[in-house]
Amino acid sequence: MNRLIVISNRVTVPKARDKAQAGGLAMALAAALREYRGVWFGWSGKSVPQFTGQISMHQSNGVTVALTDLEEADVQEYYNGYANKTLWPLFHYRNDLTAYDRSFNLGYQRVNARFADTVRPLIDPDDFVWVHDYHLIPLGRELRQRGVKGPLGFFLHIPWPARQLLVTLPRDRALVEALFSYDLVGFHTEEWLDAFVAYVLREAGGTVLPDGRLSCFGRTIRAAVFPIGIDASNFVDMLQTPDSIRARERVERSLNGRRMIIGVDRLDYSKGLEERFVAYEHLLATRVRHRRDVFMLQIATPSRGDVGPYQNLRAKLDALAGRINGGYADVDWVPLRYVNRAYRRDELAGMFRAAQVGFITPLRDGMNLVAKEYIAAQDPEDPGVLVLSRFAGAALQMKEALIVNPFSREEMADALDRALTMDLAERKRRFEPLMHSVMTEDVAAWRDNFVNALREAAEVRVQSEVA
Ligand code: ADP
Ligand code: G6P
Repeated sequence: MNRLIVISNRVTVPKARDKAQAGGLAMALAAALREYRGVWFGWSGKSVPQFTGQISMHQSNGVTVALTDLEEADVQEYYNGYANKTLWPLFHYRNDLTAYDRSFNLGYQRVNARFADTVRPLIDPDDFVWVHDYHLIPLGRELRQRGVKGPLGFFLHIPWPARQLLVTLPRDRALVEALFSYDLVGFHTEEWLDAFVAYVLREAGGTVLPDGRLSCFGRTIRAAVFPIGIDASNFVDMLQTPDSIRARERVERSLNGRRMIIGVDRLDYSKGLEERFVAYEHLLATRVRHRRDVFMLQIATPSRGDVGPYQNLRAKLDALAGRINGGYADVDWVPLRYVNRAYRRDELAGMFRAAQVGFITPLRDGMNLVAKEYIAAQDPEDPGVLVLSRFAGAALQMKEALIVNPFSREEMADALDRALTMDLAERKRRFEPLMHSVMTEDVAAWRDNFVNALREAAEVRVQSEVA
């Protein structure tokens, strides 16, 4: 088996006991890498006065990790800047929040070149190189320029935006052109792939070849869909650990016979948290019978706190939570438990198990792994109900969930009401196919499908170079 060199900005190898709020990418990659010999390279999360290009290597939970520090200016311009003030909002359809600043793009290109310089000595000719996410789109081009000739794949963990949005980005074509240095470019859903292809054909004058490959900028690539999954059997096993059981019992004791609605997210404007709170408030306002027999637990772990819109969102959510609890709480009942701290993964699993409703309503999300974790944590004999936004990539796979429009508080309140009153037979009927797909379309299947497609795409390239 060839070695796999995985490269992403964020590197965290999560363990059951970890409190680190890692995000979907890190959760998936750690699980994917454990099976392959290989290295996971990325940013240490630390900044230094001047970039040195030094690598520190260590083993973490069965994975070889190689990390490099970034310069303070890199963190500002590349991570806080181009990645999280430009690409993240734009790709999540928030061009009202998108900052277009030339220094951000310069920092982005600089860090991608630095990543390439630093990781290049780790790459052997037989290695498969797999680059992840919006931070590192130009890395493939930089690696090719440094003589990497083997299979080179890219996976985008967030949505690909509609062509009409992407054209608002200065130097949009250069960003798309950079993707044509890879052999294979992967997306979570058909929707994101279609948007990418539409840009290539209509903005960049590309064509689809008879074998389905895309040709543009004088190069040919394969672009395809690989829906990511979770490490499902591991998540299910985690439910049996004493810590998970303790976490579940702790929540259950506090229920006092009430039912719990749960949401778990990074504190991010793409997750629809404000809209979710307002929908829950609408439920309390319009369905008096649920007052006092329900409460909502929202865990929202702070994320990207140096970026303005994240600070604003936090303040808005604090105010909204105060309004809801101020308006409806009683001496012995708090309708919204709003928590900003991180929990361990095994504890989270136990809390999912204790919740009758998983309320997961992003305004836009590449996939959303929490939806899959909620399902994996349910008791098959008495499962809870998943209420899921139609704008999460996961909605395309999880059709048996109650699918909602997160922009409509009425629709979300209706779905909550329906979930809270659904009989056991319907809950099981919906749960069984969801659980089946979470267990089978798991992270190992995602990794293997991508790596096999990468092998094939690189072979086709080599053959066409020879011809
Ligand atoms: P994103 O990648 O945008 O953060 P996902 O839903 O795809 O969203 O993935 C989030 C991942 O981070 C999930 O595996 C989830 O369990 C984990 N996570 C979210 N909040 C916490 C938390 N408070 N503590 C531990 N893990 C968390
Ligand atoms: C999403 C992104 C990842 C990112 C994660 C956490 O999952 O797709 O690339 O790592 O959020 O965000 P952070 O900025 O903390 O790495």
